[in-house]
Amino acid sequence: MAYFDHGPLVIGDLIVPTPVVQGGMGIGVSLSGLAAAVANEGGLGVLSAASVGMVNRKNTPGGNIEALRGEIRRAREKTAGALGVNIMVALSDFGDMVKTSVEEGIDIIFAGAGLPLNLPAFVKKGCKTKLAPIVSSARAVKTISKWWREKYDYIPDAVVVEGPMAGGHLGFRKEQIDDPAYRLENLVPQVIEAIRPLEEQVGRKIPVIAAGGIFTGADIRRFLHLGASAVQMATRFVATDECDADIAFKQAYVDCKKEDIGIIESPVGMPGRAIVNRFLHEAKQGTRRPKACPFHCISTCTRETSPYCISMALINACKGKLDNGFAFIGANGYKVKEIVPVKKLFETLEQEYRQSGGNAEEEET
Ligand SMILES: Cc1cc2nc3c(=O)[nH]c(=O)nc-3n(C[C@H](O)[C@H](O)[C@H](O)COP(=O)(O)O)c2cc1C
Repeated sequence: MAYFDHGPLVIGDLIVPTPVVQGGMGIGVSLSGLAAAVANEGGLGVLSAASVGMVNRKNTPGGNIEALRGEIRRAREKTAGALGVNIMVALSDFGDMVKTSVEEGIDIIFAGAGLPLNLPAFVKKGCKTKLAPIVSSARAVKTISKWWREKYDYIPDAVVVEGPMAGGHLGFRKEQIDDPAYRLENLVPQVIEAIRPLEEQVGRKIPVIAAGGIFTGADIRRFLHLGASAVQMATRFVATDECDADIAFKQAYVDCKKEDIGIIESPVGMPGRAIVNRFLHEAKQGTRRPKACPFHCISTCTRETSPYCISMALINACKGKLDNGFAFIGANGYKVKEIVPVKKLFETLEQEYRQSGGNAEEEET
């Protein structure tokens, strides 16, 4: 099964027939259900490792590991396609999550929300799992590559460049988010340029995957045309039958209007894009302060100064309890109109991709 006539995403010996990566979505939004469905359509399905134990009320270090292991195995039972795990650098159990994913034979690990400088430290030489940092600038990719090379003799297998229209945590300062200089269209060629000398040194392609605000088949064509080897999409995959979140979370996407989507300051220490609801208004007023923090799931978060517990808020939302949480969403999320099977979504994207043939450069975001 392969969509779009672009050819596969090739990451060393990992061949992904459809050049679409489904972005990892925490907490619990992209697990085995969504990831396997995407992989079965030839794309790269990605599970989110973030506090995954909370999905089954086991948010202990051991509970998270056990839950991640279970999710990877369940996904593998449902698909022979390409599977990845998204692990946020800020997670306190980052290293254990990486090790567990490698043990379970995951095809690729994506690591972002911070610079994953020590990621290669957790994998043995010659292991088949690929490593891909998620960056927001050419400078970040240069820093990571230099560090990995000097400390671990490792070159990134692929790179995701995530622009400011993405959902979830954003690797930009607040004032950069709407600055045209930081548009994904500008970042993709800069990252490709930064990677080129490295590709020449190692004699192999390092695919660049474009993410953030890619919504239609025409968008996919545009970024492939710009030189990306694949695109990463998350928001559009939320409104699918197979997405692992509760139906109320998906419906919040269908119901949301452009003016409902805003930028928040996350306790993780980065800005984030979300559907701004009553919970977030109350949190801003200081009435949602966490009473306890038994698990310290985010290394950069402190209970005393945190306006709310982000893990509780995200897991509540994922389970449909949006009064006690909130949903992350990409800038184009208000364009979601219906919840469809993953297969139908790919067919729609394919149709949009074909219809956009010939005028890719002129399309607007
Ligand atoms: C609900 C939601 C949760 C997300 N959670 C994570 C996460 O846990 N880790 C991460 O690196 N990115 C996360 N992201 C970002 C996506 O993986 C993706 O790169 C980005 O949203 C792409 O932009 P798009 O949503 O416009 O397609 C999340 C995005 C959404 C919408």
